Amino acid sequence: MSMNTIKNADDYKRFYDMSLNDKEAFWSEVASNYKWNRPFEKITSGDFNNLDVKWFEGAKLNITENCIDRHLEKRANKTAIIYEANNPDEESLHITYKELHSRVCKFANVLKDRGVKKGDRVIFYMSMVPDLLVGVLASARIGAIHSVVFGGFSANALAGRIQDCEATIIVTNDAGFRGDKTVPLKAITDEALKSCPTIKTVLVSKRVGEDIQMIEGRDHWLQPMLDQADNNCDPVYVDSEDPLFILYTSGSTGKPKGLLHTTAGYMVWAGETYKNVFQVGEDDVYWCTADIGWITGHSYITYGPLLNGSTQVMFEGVPTYPDAGRFWEATEKHKVTHFYTAPTAIRALEAHGLDYVKSHDLSSLKVLGSVGEPINEEAWDWYNKNIGKEKCPIVDTWWQTETGGIMISPLPGVGKFLPSFAESPLPGVDPIFVDAEGVEVTGNPAEGNLCIRSPWPGMARTIWGDHERYRQTYFSTYPGLYFTGDGAKRNEQGDYRITGRVDDVINVSGHRMGTAEVEDALNQHEDIVESAVVGYPHDIKGQGIYAYVIWNPQSKNTQDPKQIHKELNDMVIKMIGPIAKPDKVQVVSGLPKTRSGKIMRRILRKVASGDSSNMGDISTLLNPEVVEEIKNGAL
Ligand code: WTA
Repeated sequence: MSMNTIKNADDYKRFYDMSLNDKEAFWSEVASNYKWNRPFEKITSGDFNNLDVKWFEGAKLNITENCIDRHLEKRANKTAIIYEANNPDEESLHITYKELHSRVCKFANVLKDRGVKKGDRVIFYMSMVPDLLVGVLASARIGAIHSVVFGGFSANALAGRIQDCEATIIVTNDAGFRGDKTVPLKAITDEALKSCPTIKTVLVSKRVGEDIQMIEGRDHWLQPMLDQADNNCDPVYVDSEDPLFILYTSGSTGKPKGLLHTTAGYMVWAGETYKNVFQVGEDDVYWCTADIGWITGHSYITYGPLLNGSTQVMFEGVPTYPDAGRFWEATEKHKVTHFYTAPTAIRALEAHGLDYVKSHDLSSLKVLGSVGEPINEEAWDWYNKNIGKEKCPIVDTWWQTETGGIMISPLPGVGKFLPSFAESPLPGVDPIFVDAEGVEVTGNPAEGNLCIRSPWPGMARTIWGDHERYRQTYFSTYPGLYFTGDGAKRNEQGDYRITGRVDDVINVSGHRMGTAEVEDALNQHEDIVESAVVGYPHDIKGQGIYAYVIWNPQSKNTQDPKQIHKELNDMVIKMIGPIAKPDKVQVVSGLPKTRSGKIMRRILRKVASGDSSNMGDISTLLNPEVVEEIKNGAL
């Protein structure tokens, strides 16, 4: 661990105060942990009004040199990646920093051979295989912009993302393993590419041995190319604010947004937050169970751990295959010390009972982490007692795709570790609560809409191709502040507790879903007149998807509610992917609307949550009579 790690409450206070009061000194010191090809001239400029935020301006750097090359002197033969495959019988693969260097260089040379240049967009639509992590780093090595699309998205969703960023090349697998199933990634890619004329090259990394179609001239097997490529590739030095990646995420309106992260600020943020939040020692083994298709897999698999020279487990599988003991079996096998997962996984495993836990030795564990959604007290207690044996701090890390890295979290050696509290802002993070009118809520205890008052290095700089939408989405609700979309509380001592989204975004198993996006998909069905989607509390998923639909009463297709649900599931799978399937579909004759035609979601949420006792004031509704019908038909 480098010099300026936060080890105790005094360090935390000193660093935190300094980060806000003397930005220059603080960030200069932090930046000295990294390798710069040319030093920066200015720590930061820009604000939430001009939205031209820059960090470490004037510098030249390459993030992969920081992730790999600079470790080679001391850590060449240290394991960087322990690859744990979907099938536990498949032998785990150990990749040292030296081997990682060689693999990334080879892959970078393959991309170069295919004509990929600085600034070009490279799409990865893959399973969790080493080539994904290597490919992403290879893209960064040559200054290209990577955009990873989660392997569970549909052809339609993939195509939308490719079209939006006008990528020229896509890397995929023949197919991927997922539990006892395989996902036909290449076939889905082929389908998507029918509407993506910008793609000139498809690289296929072989994983399953699936029988696939290869289009001459466009499609190439990756392995033979890697075998022939040179294992050295000089890093391309880019400017601090040059783009590193685009990651698409859902919001409360319209199509997914491509959040753009730039190089230097993101690097420093991923590196420093990983270091302070997890405190992974030189001989420790860190494991984050996320997929690289999400931001957690970018910041806390691909970049954070490698920036710090850690050894980490990369996992292809799912928590319940071949059984619910998989996480614990692999923890024992690799003597994992730091384990970072999502509340939904914890709840799912809790439901399978303790036998799967008890049969494994978990004594190597030192720190546990949680991310993606609020962790309920019961799941926190279970995690603490049965996995951490009440001796591991639990870091409940609050952050977002937009923030680039962790923003609020207890730190080992510092935190109080109150169940379901994210506790304290990290150095550089300046949170503020406001009420619905944007007036600051001060003092403790307090409750409000969570905003951030000033720029931090890891923040997304724009939405790809649509800076105005970026301004509208994040900075127009409360001018001068970044609005997170989350509600939060502070207790008497000022510890933060995130309560969940206050906008039309729902969080299903830790995956962000815009209700409008799901509605758009449902509305594609020919028999749907109108739909409204809300979240409701779900024991395992955190939130489930509840769809209210007006189904054409004249439809000859079907009027059977079960069949309607099935047809709508199929539509959502086609338009977005299985993760957005509605858990419940209620057919209604109308939706509660205000006189201005706006759907009153408050009522729909209440019914969906199983509480239809007090509907509040419904007199302003255009059609108050449907409320009774909706209540009576609740599922
Ligand atoms: C939610 C995932 C409570 C929150 C890193 C946020 C959390 C959204 C936590 C971002 C947490 C994430 N406690 N809520 N520890 N972590 N969230 O972009 O609503 O996929 O706005 O980033 O997840 O989801 P995203």
